Formats: sequence, C-alpha cells, structure tokens
Amino acid sequence: MAVRLNPQGSQMDLQLDGKVVFVTGASKGIGFATAKTLLGEGAKVAIAARNRDGLDRAVAELDGGEDLLAVQADMTDPDDVVRAVAEVIAGFGGIDVLVTCAGSSPGGLLEELTEEQWLASLNLKFMGYVRSCRAVLPHMRERGGGSVVLVVGNDGLKPSYWEMTAGAANAADINFASSIAEQYGPQGIRINTINPGPVDTDRWDGLEKAFARDKKVSQDRARELTLSSLPLGRICGPEEVASLVAFVASPLASYLNGAHIPVDGGQRKALMDAKEPA
Ligand SMILES: NC(=O)c1ccc[n+]([C@@H]2O[C@H](COP(=O)([O-])OP(=O)(O)OC[C@H]3O[C@@H](n4cnc5c(N)ncnc54)[C@H](OP(=O)(O)O)[C@@H]3O)[C@@H](O)[C@H]2O)c1
Repeated sequence: MAVRLNPQGSQMDLQLDGKVVFVTGASKGIGFATAKTLLGEGAKVAIAARNRDGLDRAVAELDGGEDLLAVQADMTDPDDVVRAVAEVIAGFGGIDVLVTCAGSSPGGLLEELTEEQWLASLNLKFMGYVRSCRAVLPHMRERGGGSVVLVVGNDGLKPSYWEMTAGAANAADINFASSIAEQYGPQGIRINTINPGPVDTDRWDGLEKAFARDKKVSQDRARELTLSSLPLGRICGPEEVASLVAFVASPLASYLNGAHIPVDGGQRKALMDAKEPA
C-alpha cells in the first residue's frame, strides 16, 4: 500500500481522511497553512474570509478540487457567521472540526489606542471566536462529537504593553475555551487553544511595524528585538502552527481537552520589551 505523505513529509496517519474541517480566516497566513496541511491529510476543508479576491487566490493555490469550499463571510457579523456555518454544512454534509483563525487586533499604546480599536479587536478576535463556536457546537453535539481548535496567541498568557488589545482578547478567548471545554466535553467535543508567538505572516508584519513605531526604532531593529526574545533564534513559519493544529484537531489527540498549548519557541517576551525604553 502506498504511504501518503502530508506537506511536512510526515508518515503519521492523523486519521483526518474524509473529515470536514471549517477554518475561519483562511485566505492567507496561519489559516491558509492549516487548510493546506489538512487537505494534505485527506480532509474536506472549507475556508472563510471577507475578501473575494483573497479567497479566489487561496482556492487556486490550494487546488483542493471537490474537497475544498470557499465561503465569503465576515466574522464580525453574527448573521454572516451563522450563514457561513450553514453553507459549509450544506456543502459537505456536516462539520467535524472547527479551526478559528480570523483575528487582527491592532498594536498600540494605551494612551493612543482609540475606543474603536479596542472594540474592533474584541469584536473580531473574541466575539468572532464566540460566534463561530456558538454556531458550530450545537451541530457537533447533534452529530455526537467534534473538535474545536482556537488559534489564539501567546500574548493572552504573556502580556505586552504594545500589543494589549490582542492580549486582552486572547486572554478572554482562553478563558472562554476553558469554559466550553468543560461544558461540551461530556458530549464528545474537545476544545483547545493554540497560542503562537511571532509567526511570519502579514499580521506579524503589521504588528512589527506598530511595535517599531511605538518603540521609535526601525523595523529592522524591531525584528532584532523579536529575534532576541526567541530562544530558537527565528520566527515561526505558519506551517509549523498548522502541523500542531492538525494534530490537536485529530483523533490522535483524543484525550486533549481544555488545553492551552504554546507554539512560541519558548519566547521570553519581556526581552522584546526590556531592551530599550518606550
Ligand atoms: N502572525 C502572528 O504572529 C500571530 C501570533 C499569534 C496569534 N496570531 C493569531 O492567529 C490568527 C491568524 O493570524 P495570521 O497571522 O494568519 O493573520 P493574517 O495573515 O492577517 O490572515 C488573517 C486571515 O483572516 C481573515 N480575516 C480578517 N478579518 C476577518 C473577518 N472580519 N472575518 C473573516 N475573516 C477575516 C483574512 O482575510 P480577509 O482580510 O479577506 O477577511 C485572512 O484570511 C489571528 O487570530 C491572529 O491574531 C497570529
């Protein structure tokens, strides 16, 4: 029998063949890498994002044929989230795995951040994750089980004064995930968070620019400070987060529930903050 290799070249069978996975925020970045990895595992993958062009580009690049479905939806709009979930269920017959990646909290310092920026962060990164779970969990309960992976962020547990809107939303996501893991565990639904540090995506580029602005240093210097905080000496690749998402989502992680797993290379975030005065 031929051995099927996933994009990372692993031979471990994650038993995701034929499972339906819905990934929010997946036209690029971590969500896109996750969709790619899961397609490689034989899953049927639905991806969501707001921008049609971005989705079309992702569909062309992923080349998933009938195993791939793109849904245009805005996770800040409660009706859109419900519609998107219904479209995925109608298209693929159900959802076995939900992965939430749609987030983009602005960087900035307390005295500069506006009311709108705070609310936008909480509306997408916290409430968007709440809405996605609220729409999918009753369906999973009816099916007798499922797995939810919230891609959150290490600043929920390792706060930084220059990324506090993300940190606050992420801490709320982690708390929320613990609560629903307890509530839905008895129904055979596992809920876990994955908490990356800096990951090489457009999102990190934007945050790094804000960090450089607030620190009054160049972006190159901001990158040096970032690297100095990372014991592995490099920023994470989105596919490295995707591998962990795939494992946590899979039946191989069958006893993992209510866990909050860092994938930040052991980042010592304080080193980014401490090097020069703000
Ligand atoms: N990159 C990092 O360093 C890092 C670190 C820790 C945690 N995270 C978290 O990981 C998640 C993914 O980050 P990323 O770096 O992959 O971001 P990214 O490269 O900016 O990609 C974000 C994706 O989400 C979609 N999106 C944005 N707003 C949306 C909305 N309102 N409704 C639906 N989709 C939306 C975007 O497409 P459209 O714009 O077309 O909607 C895009 O597909 C985020 O929650 C982020 O906070 C990232």
